[in-house]
Amino acid sequence: MSGQNVTIIGLQWGDEGKGKVVDAVAGTCRYVVRYCGGANAGHTVIVGDEKYALHLIPSGILHSGVRNVIGNGVAFDPAVALEEIEGFRSRGVEVGDENLAISSAANVVMPWHKLADRLNEQRLGSGKIGTTARGIGPLYSDKAARTLAVRTGDLLDADVLTEKITRIAEVKNTIFSALYAHDEPINAEAVCGEYLDYGRRLAGMITDTGAVLRRAIAEGSRICFEGGQGSMLDIDHGTFPFVTSSPVTACGVPAGAGVPPKAVGCVVGIAKAYTSRVGAGPFPTEQDNETGNRLRERGHEYGTTTGRPRRCGWFDAVAVKYAAELSGVDELALMLLDVLSGFETICICTGYRLDGKDIGPFDSIPAAMGAAECVYEEMPGWDEDIAPAKEFSDLPANARAYVERIESLTGRPVGLISVGPERKQTILHNTQLKAPAQCNT
Ligand code: GDP
Ligand code: IMO
Ligand code: MG
Repeated sequence: MSGQNVTIIGLQWGDEGKGKVVDAVAGTCRYVVRYCGGANAGHTVIVGDEKYALHLIPSGILHSGVRNVIGNGVAFDPAVALEEIEGFRSRGVEVGDENLAISSAANVVMPWHKLADRLNEQRLGSGKIGTTARGIGPLYSDKAARTLAVRTGDLLDADVLTEKITRIAEVKNTIFSALYAHDEPINAEAVCGEYLDYGRRLAGMITDTGAVLRRAIAEGSRICFEGGQGSMLDIDHGTFPFVTSSPVTACGVPAGAGVPPKAVGCVVGIAKAYTSRVGAGPFPTEQDNETGNRLRERGHEYGTTTGRPRRCGWFDAVAVKYAAELSGVDELALMLLDVLSGFETICICTGYRLDGKDIGPFDSIPAAMGAAECVYEEMPGWDEDIAPAKEFSDLPANARAYVERIESLTGRPVGLISVGPERKQTILHNTQLKAPAQCNT
């Protein structure tokens, strides 16, 4: 096992329970770092009676002594960040220069990104992606275009920001008018004032976070990299074009955080014991029926960011194995196992068939997903409420068999089993996380 650090990523279409696992691991780390996505993420952490929904602030924020970092790969929306920071402060959680750093090279979500996201989805009509409307796609497009981008560091320099916003607003006004017949011009002066104010309020936190992290690595501090979204939503390796616009797998960590690839460390892949997806796009194991409705209601499957009902279906071992191979996952965390209690039979997708032929392990899984037929294996369910289980041996035999079947189908040990949303509803199983020192080799 390489490295002492830990990288926590989603293996499905997001909302796998990454926030809960990052919170569980954060206490053993000095840094928790977001490296991809932006306020499209909604990570839930529950501590006792308190529930926190985090969009931009890393999920280590509830641990004193942890420095949280928003890396250069993040689509940074200062308005959302400040709202979240104020929300934490009003609940007695300290957030300041001591425990939050924001990359000066992170790209800033501007009002025209959110507007373009909305107008573009409207234009696509029934072919829309079903985005979170947080401006993510337009932001990363402008990042790639380079001359239309505003970086967090620019918020600290009135001259630079004014020049950029004035120039970019002119281009955007032309595009909005021509493409969408949207003729309300951007008030560049007002936007400048608003974003300079954000800059003033965040100034102490904006820094070269890559340099901070590389120093931390040199000093031997343990870092947790917190993924956003899920591998099947990855811009390159997901179900394109029904994906998000950043690299969200473990492969995205070095570029999005400004650290060497070796810093990725142990990779923990998070998967639900079934599958959910929000937005459009292929979903081979979807159950658009009573089973799906039951999973949605039992799992409270409504988006943390947008409140949309999530599409639900059975566990897809083909997709999870693909995602685990892509990121070099060392172990899985299997979440929401409690949601499956009460199903007489539980199905697992063990293979895809396309045009009557089996898809092989090295065929393109995302490309096949649109038309593939699922091969299912049925397993007997269990009736017991497993939410109070503390050890693997407390689980009913059929639940243990289900976990072990997932281990064998994906070729990965299940390190952690989650049986409820709370911190304490976590069973450590075949894990290295139990003894973080083991990752120190
Ligand atoms: P993330 O985006 O990957 O951090 O996941 P979300 O927070 O969007 O969605 C996961 C949801 O499942 C949240 O509401 C969590 O509180 C909840 N959750 C996490 N683990 C469990 C679990 O084991 N059982 C149940 N019932 N809920 C869980
Ligand atoms: P977390 O980190 C679930 C989905 C959207 C849409 C697609 C593109 O909470 O797991 P975008 O706004 O990124 O352009 O939308 O990606 N999506 C997510 N789905 N969880 C997320 O984040 C998501 N972030 C984006 O629903 O289908
Ligand atoms: Mg989420």
